[in-house]
Amino acid sequence: MIDTMTQWFLHHQQLAGYLEPIMQRFKPAWRAGFYRAEVACIEPINEKYLELWLAPESTWPIHKAGQHLELTVEMNGQLRTRVFTIASSPEQYRASGLVRLLIRTHELGRFTPHLTTYLASESWCNISAPQGTFLFPQRKMGSTLMIAGGSGITPFLAMLSQHLSEACNPVKLIYIARTGEHLAEKELNALAARFAHFSYFPIGRAEFKPLTHYLNDLDAPVVFCCGPQAVMEQVATQSLAANVTYFDEPFGLATHINMAERTEHVVKVAHNQYAVDNQRSLLDQLEQQHVSVRRGCGMGICHQCQCVKKQGLVRDMRTGALSDAGESLIQLCVVQAVTDVEIAL
Ligand code: FES
Repeated sequence: MIDTMTQWFLHHQQLAGYLEPIMQRFKPAWRAGFYRAEVACIEPINEKYLELWLAPESTWPIHKAGQHLELTVEMNGQLRTRVFTIASSPEQYRASGLVRLLIRTHELGRFTPHLTTYLASESWCNISAPQGTFLFPQRKMGSTLMIAGGSGITPFLAMLSQHLSEACNPVKLIYIARTGEHLAEKELNALAARFAHFSYFPIGRAEFKPLTHYLNDLDAPVVFCCGPQAVMEQVATQSLAANVTYFDEPFGLATHINMAERTEHVVKVAHNQYAVDNQRSLLDQLEQQHVSVRRGCGMGICHQCQCVKKQGLVRDMRTGALSDAGESLIQLCVVQAVTDVEIAL
């Protein structure tokens, strides 16, 4: 009712849309449905990573170690959103009011390379409530083996900071990255020096040994893994073979798909047709052809790219599952065409 009256009298679809510019005069970055966060500090760590400290507004629900959030920044008049794991613990947030993100900057990306242009200390952005279930189980555990690859270290930084002082069971971290690209080395070395039950092994990809090598001295181990798809697949398979409990957090999509042969298809949108193949996501290919599609996280989390598929088969890039041929909701960023497809945007 309120929104209908808003459409009649204020010429806006929703009351929030009318209020937004007014509210933003008093509360920078105020947006209905988002939390606000002030930038406490943003600075490069090295050529590839940025460290961003945010002070969320007081209504933000405190995260659990291992969770992620959606970061939304207005860039050139457009809201852009990406998902990042929080690299600091709830205790650190309670003590300082700050959360930390470690962000890999992708040279050709539409978001990360522009962050330092649009964010500076004391500027504002939006964040979502914390999300995700990659958490330490509440039950008592034996020992823990953590395997991190590249920026997959971020949830472990939060977990270690939270749990090392709470438990004394052995925790071993294997951190795989290129030489010189291990993040937070000082912090991890300091934790290893302070807690006798924590050991830390920074290694290169080529040095990564079969899982049993790392499990040998651990009693009743539980394995946690976060990193590139290939590492997670290897660790998952070997955990299964070793009969140990395994948890993982994929922070990227499995962009490969076993459709060895490249095929071409047509995507119909209203009266237009676009050529796509079966190798990349529909979102990437439609964007490339300047179709006006909504992109958020690009990882199947935020649902901003969701639309109705009217007909045709698509494959979910995360699971390999095929859709049926009829009408269904799809997320463009995580599906590839298997046949010609018609969608309504
Ligand atoms: S862009 Fe976030 S789910 Fe597709």
